[in-house]
Amino acid sequence: MFRTAERRLENAARRAACLALRGKTGEKMCTRGKVLTVANMNPFVKTMEYAVRGPIVIRAGEIEQELAKGVKKSFTDVIRANIGDCHAVGQRPLTFIRQVSALCTYPELLNDPKMPSDAKDRASRILKACGGESIGAYSDSAGVRVIREDVAKYIAARDGHPCSPDDIFLSTGASDGIKNVMKLTMTGETGNKRAGVMIPIPQYPLYTATIAEYNAHPIGYFLDEDNGWALSIDELKRSISEARTQCQPRAIVIINPGNPTGQVLTRKNIEDIIKFAKEENLLLMADEVYQHNVYAAESEFHSFKKVLMEMGSPYSDMEMASFMSTSKGYMGECGFRGGYSEVINFDPEVKAMLVKSISAKLCSSVSGQAVMDVVVNPPQPGEPSYELFNKEKTEVLSQLAEKAKMVTETFNSMEGIRCNKVQGAMYAFPRITLPQKAIEAAKAKGQAPDAFYCFSLLEDTGICVVPGSGFGQLPGTFHFRTTILPPVAKLGEMMERFRQFHNNFLSKYS
Ligand SMILES: Cc1ncc(COP(=O)(O)O)c(C=O)c1O
Repeated sequence: MFRTAERRLENAARRAACLALRGKTGEKMCTRGKVLTVANMNPFVKTMEYAVRGPIVIRAGEIEQELAKGVKKSFTDVIRANIGDCHAVGQRPLTFIRQVSALCTYPELLNDPKMPSDAKDRASRILKACGGESIGAYSDSAGVRVIREDVAKYIAARDGHPCSPDDIFLSTGASDGIKNVMKLTMTGETGNKRAGVMIPIPQYPLYTATIAEYNAHPIGYFLDEDNGWALSIDELKRSISEARTQCQPRAIVIINPGNPTGQVLTRKNIEDIIKFAKEENLLLMADEVYQHNVYAAESEFHSFKKVLMEMGSPYSDMEMASFMSTSKGYMGECGFRGGYSEVINFDPEVKAMLVKSISAKLCSSVSGQAVMDVVVNPPQPGEPSYELFNKEKTEVLSQLAEKAKMVTETFNSMEGIRCNKVQGAMYAFPRITLPQKAIEAAKAKGQAPDAFYCFSLLEDTGICVVPGSGFGQLPGTFHFRTTILPPVAKLGEMMERFRQFHNNFLSKYS
């Protein structure tokens, strides 16, 4: 009662204040509602788009609510194949990763005889390097020193070339590292003096979103779908020369293995890209978060650093940053937000600026750093946890390989769908040929044709995938991205639901 009366008084006072604020013309000037409105907020944030969590995913959430309330549909669950979030669709965490993480979080467990000695050793070493021996303390801006040393050892062993812990920056997922490095390439100018960043099309939307946020210019180079999504050097040349009038090209991003396209670049392709970047004086940004996710027998992961070093001078002197994450691979530990960047051949003064800029955020999550440590310093032969760790890791990766094959083959068996082999990463990006009538129906609804297809798929089957338009595609072509992450049986069921939907869709609109 009292509160209602109080609120009425408040409202009356507010109305009076509004009336007092009316101008001479009687025009209403009361704008006390919000300081920030969509009209006056940062325009660059408004331009950002992130399809992987876009409107289709919001609708998927609504459908889940409807199902929970008992609304009858022709399916009983939503299959979220829209995001590369392994644990969210049932992947179990690896025992050793969680043991080390638990020990770091709750050191009392160091006295627990059930915890293996190698997990205890890893955790004790990390804790000793933390302020007050607690992961609850801030770390150095670039991360806990011993973890950076372990990352450097991992990279040196992977590539056969030295790596310095001083070149390693632990980050809040790879996303944070990518944004930190890209920020350095900005020119601080506007118009055609803005920085241009070359990105693959299709691309992982973090890149277009960050470029929009930084008010830079995206220089999209189309991946060659007819050639297994390879990078064509002619296309790189075309895109950079067309962009020169609009920006100052500063960096090239390469995602290998590819998201959303699932290709693994050949060594020759990488060499050609490096030569191109050298010629054009670009910073190389190698997104290698899927370096453990290679399935095709003919494919092999080559790190940009290794290739660059093996090409020798002048290439081995080029500036390059590469990025890695705890979110992908066999770990799928997205929620820990662990990641690292390695920056090589940077001007020491620029590196000091990078340190300064990340210092303003203090440091990345130390529990994420600890998980990164396990990824780069896993149990070794002879250690108590070696066998279980390897068994769990192999199980995840072999199931992913099986699912990559299943998805490629099933899509290619459907009329009007063509899918390049999923050689690596966690996604397929099939091309769909849509009937003219479907294109018209999409237009009538004000939707992109592939968005129309994906929304229909969601409404009819509960399968949530992301339209190709969210990643970019050659004009006139239509695609969608699906993850290959649901468990094998669920993925099999998903492909069956998909086939039925696709056939019905074709008959309806043909
Ligand atoms: C190519 C690529 N880079 C970076 C990221 C971001 O990963 P993180 O979770 O480490 O920020 C992703 C996530 O899906 C990705 O696919």
